[in-house]
Amino acid sequence: MQGIRVEGLVKRFGARTAVEGLSFEVRPGEVFGLLGPNGAGKTTTVRMLTGLLTPTAGSASVCGVSLPLRTDDDGVRLRRQVGLLTEQPGLYDRLTARENLEFFMRLNEVDGGSAWKLASALLERFELKGREDEPVGGFSKGMRQKLAIVRALVHSPEVVFLDEPTSGLDPQSGRVVRDAIAELAKEGRTMVLCSHNLPEVERLCTRVAVIKNTLRTVASLEELRREGLALDVQLEGDAAGYAGALATLPFTVGHLAEGSRLRVMLDREAQAPDVITCLVRAGARVHSAHRAARPLEEAYLELVREEVGS
Ligand SMILES: Nc1ncnc2c1ncn2[C@@H]1O[C@H](COP(=O)(O)OP(=O)(O)OP(=O)(O)O)[C@@H](O)[C@H]1O
Ligand SMILES: [Mg+2]
Repeated sequence: MQGIRVEGLVKRFGARTAVEGLSFEVRPGEVFGLLGPNGAGKTTTVRMLTGLLTPTAGSASVCGVSLPLRTDDDGVRLRRQVGLLTEQPGLYDRLTARENLEFFMRLNEVDGGSAWKLASALLERFELKGREDEPVGGFSKGMRQKLAIVRALVHSPEVVFLDEPTSGLDPQSGRVVRDAIAELAKEGRTMVLCSHNLPEVERLCTRVAVIKNTLRTVASLEELRREGLALDVQLEGDAAGYAGALATLPFTVGHLAEGSRLRVMLDREAQAPDVITCLVRAGARVHSAHRAARPLEEAYLELVREEVGS
């Protein structure tokens, strides 16, 4: 099994640079998150890695196929080994769900027999069973999304790119899709997941790349959380009143006050006693204090903030 290697990938659209010098690796069998704000270049990256867009510069290797594609055969090999859920799944409204899948299979020379067995199981899992002979034009947004996911998986690809797979789904369908992704991961499938849903990323991904046209970081979720330890302190009275006292600490710490709760960001665990001593000296009555992992959201927001890395 081979993963993905991206080296100095660049994509320009006229004067606009969508992706600038992007390098990262996705190991075989991992669920890799691609995060970044709107317009960060996630979809553009996915389109380059699936052979839909030619990079302006740089190279990549996906399941052993080199990009930019050199021959038509490479294109066929790539399509066979890669599953893709695009941001806006193009389905044929006049065709039924079954016909849409058949069309895709024929286009990609997928063997009908075994693929249909898998398609049938997937349609069942995504609660589309019984609707497969209806025209897709009559499907709801979530049903279309689920059908597009089935289409991305139907040829048992080694690597699956999912561009915002749960966007627009109701909570229950979102859960079905997340569970399916987790199961595919257990089967050892390599997956790249673009998502703005950070709890979803926390649940599914082992490592993430945060991009904003260029790479901000590649890290495991554990590393991202560890980087930002926090101390949650429960005080008596208004926590905001202790901002001045915290500012006197020799190390710079950020903090967040909410009612009587104070969250103090730390660089190192060893700073926790100093924070508590400082609060007590300032007259705080501390009811409890416990270490909290920084939520992914905070680490992410810090990474994509303008001044970081620029
Ligand atoms: N075909 C295109 N022609 C011109 N500009 C494009 C094209 N495709 C993407 N871009 C530009 O490239 C940049 C990155 O877009 P991209 O769709 O990759 O972002 P994204 O990270 O997927 O954002 P979102 O979270 O909104 O989906 C944007 O500035 C976008 O306008
Ligand atoms: Mg996108």
